Amino acid sequence: MEALLCRKIGDPTVPPDAAEESALTISTAHPIPQLHSPTAVRVRVRATSLNFANYLQILGKYQEKPPLPFIPGSDYSGTVDAVGTSVTKFKIGDRVCSVAGQGSFAQFIVSDESELFLVPEGCDLIAAGALAVAYGTSHVALAHRAQLHAGQVLLVLGAAGGVGVSAVQIGKIYGAIVVAVARGDEKVRFLKTMGVDHVVDSSKENVTQSVKGFLKERKLKGVDVLYDPVGGKLTKECLKLLNWGAQILVIGFASNEVPLIPANIALVKNWTIHGLYWGSYKIHRPKILEDSLKELLLWLATGVISIKISHTFNLSQANLAFGALRDRKAIGKVLITFDDEKAARPKL
Ligand SMILES: NC(=O)c1ccc[n+]([C@@H]2O[C@H](COP(=O)([O-])OP(=O)(O)OC[C@H]3O[C@@H](n4cnc5c(N)ncnc54)[C@H](OP(=O)(O)O)[C@@H]3O)[C@@H](O)[C@H]2O)c1
Repeated sequence: MEALLCRKIGDPTVPPDAAEESALTISTAHPIPQLHSPTAVRVRVRATSLNFANYLQILGKYQEKPPLPFIPGSDYSGTVDAVGTSVTKFKIGDRVCSVAGQGSFAQFIVSDESELFLVPEGCDLIAAGALAVAYGTSHVALAHRAQLHAGQVLLVLGAAGGVGVSAVQIGKIYGAIVVAVARGDEKVRFLKTMGVDHVVDSSKENVTQSVKGFLKERKLKGVDVLYDPVGGKLTKECLKLLNWGAQILVIGFASNEVPLIPANIALVKNWTIHGLYWGSYKIHRPKILEDSLKELLLWLATGVISIKISHTFNLSQANLAFGALRDRKAIGKVLITFDDEKAARPKL
């Protein structure tokens, strides 16, 4: 099968096989993974999405560091291609999606049936490949951790990125007043179409001044929930906007800078700081993650949410896909898709 291999830590935006320095290589004759247990299911991957974590992992800057070589990739969708002898929940041909620790940037992947979700009727299979990490993170953060409710002011940083767009959509579903921060006209235009209450173009405006102006106009005191996948100076600035009793959702550090949140101010202002690592719910709170993904799939099938995909590439263009993330060009999600017809048949 075709698979993308990370053979050494390095820059994933260098074309695969281009030169010695390339971290990635495309293997066209990689062994198709075999069913490793009676409850294993092999999936023919149709779509797999890029997450910032995949980029960081190839750079060697992510908390989880798999041994080399490895196939990167986490969330994916596809069709069931083979099932183990004890599999009860799925049959060949079922449409499924899941999230793996690694391995989805390949034509086939094997998972335990307990980790797969049926993609319901009415749900676009390709979109389902971009759902789990981004929407799962925002849903668990906003609904489960912050318990966001109608009328609260939600401030989303990196709002046009993968997790950002999902936080904006979920915030609106819960009836929050959503304030979004993003850079550039195209992102601002897109966020306005999503019905956000106020968008700040961080390339042109001072973020705190702009948000304060909006809050004053709407006679609102401040921000109740800060959703922060960016970190760095932007976080520091935004702390000035938070209400007494506000909640801070620490999601990530796309700015490459871990922000400092002063504990003395958190004390005085009664802030709650939630560190959130969605992937670890799989180990520590699997039921929360499972219920959340089932609800999100239902939302996707019934049009409550729609997934914005700004770039789609094939596997050999993986460096361009990573380049779109690095260059902050992505609006919503970046996908790698596989053409069904060209997919190799597995030898069972
Ligand atoms: N905690 C979890 O479980 C979890 C789950 C998923 C993702 N994350 C983390 O959340 C962060 C965002 O992930 P994502 O998949 O949404 O990434 P993404 O699609 O690339 O979005 C990141 C956004 O951050 C903004 N940004 C600000 N400074 C940046 C910089 N120096 N470089 C790149 N982007 C910058 C960009 O917006 P503008 O250009 O508009 O400023 C961009 O749209 C990552 O740190 C990721 O690891 C955490």
